[in-house]
Amino acid sequence: MKPVNVSEYEALAQPKIEAGAWDFYQGGSDDEVTLRANRSAFERIRLRPRVLVDVSSITMQTSVLGIPLAMPIMVAPTSSHCVAYPEGECATARGVGMAGSLMIASCVSTRTLEDIAEEAHTVQCPLFFQLYVFNDMQITEGLVRRAEQAGYRAIVLTVDTPRLGRRERDLRNNVIIPPLPHRAANFADGHPLFRPVLTWEMLSWLRDITSLPILLKGILTAEDALLAVQHGVDGIIVSNHGGRQLDGGLASIEALPEVVEAVEGRCEVYVDGGIRRGTDVLKALALGARAVLIGRPVLWGLAVDGSEGVRDILGLLRAELELAMALSGRPTLASIDRSLVKLP
Ligand code: FNR
Repeated sequence: MKPVNVSEYEALAQPKIEAGAWDFYQGGSDDEVTLRANRSAFERIRLRPRVLVDVSSITMQTSVLGIPLAMPIMVAPTSSHCVAYPEGECATARGVGMAGSLMIASCVSTRTLEDIAEEAHTVQCPLFFQLYVFNDMQITEGLVRRAEQAGYRAIVLTVDTPRLGRRERDLRNNVIIPPLPHRAANFADGHPLFRPVLTWEMLSWLRDITSLPILLKGILTAEDALLAVQHGVDGIIVSNHGGRQLDGGLASIEALPEVVEAVEGRCEVYVDGGIRRGTDVLKALALGARAVLIGRPVLWGLAVDGSEGVRDILGLLRAELELAMALSGRPTLASIDRSLVKLP
């Protein structure tokens, strides 16, 4: 029987992945306080459903930077998909395209960005490219050029990673990124060092070298959201990197309201971290996200059943969101507003 929810996929995925690599997928930094908070913060938010609304027809088609999507759910950039499934990110792109969603490909993918784009093209899966800034700026610029060339529609600059968080499970297991024997396919020899200085100037540099829309991933405060808007970004992903960077940082759903308030509609705002149910998506939309992103659940779907598993994970969340919209009396995305949630 097919899994009935995302957690069942998680349980089925574990035995398919070698223990150290599984820890790499699942883990967070330090004591994993923020990793757990991403989930518990959702559980503390309650819904205020309205009744006697005509919910015979539910619609959730939307767009992100003008790109039409079947649902307000996208795929977050995660590295190392070949650990879960031999075809790696190419299988993921196929599943995402079949589901009518959008994939942000990690620059530390285990298939090249060109291979992913080729596969995505066959199923009309829109792609964004996630960028880390490497010490060698020629390498960084080269990635942007290749992404433009291959048809990626936006650059997602991850800004919460001036250094890697201390992931103790990986230290204990001696795991590197990507876990051996896999390698970062976009780079000729291993993956290069992060640039130790990552500041707002980097944004002007990026703006100068590309005309693609720019999203910042890893904003958690109103202050930084305001700076992002002032620097002309096209979108903000509220994120704590799935609890893998600063431990003790805000749960991303806790940070969302202040970011939305600061942005005042001047760019699109999305959120990721701990989204495992349609009701989580509903809560994020009610708090002002245009769409959400999922990270680990995609890896679980991929491990269990390749592109079909990825498609099914997105399909499950979509069906749960559809039901939650009906049960809360919100048949359209426009009818989902702040009055739907009660914060703790
Ligand atoms: C990530 N994440 C991540 N983010 C990024 O910008 N570039 C990357 O290469 C990666 N790689 C990565 C690998 C793995 C195994 C995980 C679990 C996460 C973070 C990711 O984009 C996203 O922010 C979180 O995964 C969202 O949280 P959930 O949905 O996993 O709870």
